[in-house]
Amino acid sequence: MSSKAPDSDNVCKDLESMLALAKEKIHSAKSSDEVEQLRVEFLGKKGKVSALLSILRDATPEDRKKIGATGNKVKINLETGISRKKLELEKDELNKKLENDELDSSLPGLTNAFGRPHPVRQIMREACQILERAGLKSVYGPEVEYEDYCFDRLNFKPGHAARDMQATFFVKNAQAESLVLRTHTSPVQVRVLLDLAKKEFPLPIRMFAPGRVYRVDDDATHSPMFHQIEGLVVDKTSGMGDLKAHLDYFFRQFFSQSTKVRFRPSYFPFTEPSAEVDISCVFCDGKGCRVCKSSGWLEVAGAGLVHPEVFKACGWDPEAVGGWAFGMGIERLAMLKLRVPDLRSFFENRLSFLRATSLGSPSR
Ligand code: DAH
Repeated sequence: MSSKAPDSDNVCKDLESMLALAKEKIHSAKSSDEVEQLRVEFLGKKGKVSALLSILRDATPEDRKKIGATGNKVKINLETGISRKKLELEKDELNKKLENDELDSSLPGLTNAFGRPHPVRQIMREACQILERAGLKSVYGPEVEYEDYCFDRLNFKPGHAARDMQATFFVKNAQAESLVLRTHTSPVQVRVLLDLAKKEFPLPIRMFAPGRVYRVDDDATHSPMFHQIEGLVVDKTSGMGDLKAHLDYFFRQFFSQSTKVRFRPSYFPFTEPSAEVDISCVFCDGKGCRVCKSSGWLEVAGAGLVHPEVFKACGWDPEAVGGWAFGMGIERLAMLKLRVPDLRSFFENRLSFLRATSLGSPSR
């Protein structure tokens, strides 16, 4: 036994008397904080128990056994005593607090935060439902599209400005195919026409194609990604009157029964004749205001009769069929319906904005 070696009996005695002292202190503790301090004092890393047990390092295996056993017993004893007392005091403290606390009924209650579809999605859904009621069926096309479908077959000539790097996102790919992020939903017309060209009884085609489109554009009224709905009806007789009747129905359902629709002559490569579609201003009812720049009208869509070149490029005989089409931007409709002046608000995901522009119940 070395000179430093502990006398195990003494150490065990010390441990026992420390336990007795600690128990007394725990018993007379007045608060849970005080008990916590006692825990640190006795059981902490630098506490009294550890200090006494540090002796173990120099003890013989036999002493170590004895001291270790007593040490463990003391530790367990202390731990249970301390947690019991702590619980007891905490309960008392809570009861006292509840007795003395006044209930502040002016505090806001806890409510569940329900999620709901994004305003653009809600508007999209509403628009789609109106078109379904008009007897059109939804069709979906890919967002990464052949340049050929996005432009060529829609009668865009090779040098057309829309095909410019400045306006279109081109997609590099290993096959070196000419792919773009579609700049409009019109290529879905091409896909449907190509698909049905060889079928025996394809008419009438009555479809709409909702979805995301992409352009190199970013300001208060343009976003690099936005949503459009394309409409296409092909039959033996479809003409401008039928197109106008459908758009009248759509905008009256979407805005209000008093909404007027007018066509202005315009140009699109894939329609002839082509029209810009205006509605009477929803802010001033057509009287003239700041939003409609005193004109009483707001531009909301493009439309026209399917160009013979488009029919030809998709395997149809333009002499045998007729068709009309339209395309509109959903964010534009959402801005008008929800009275949002800056398109970018839709993409910033501010909760206050999303809540304020929400159309209805959370389940929508
Ligand atoms: N694709 C056109 C655009 O994005 C919108 C459009 C205009 C679609 C006339 C049509 C249409 O189907 O007939 O600007």
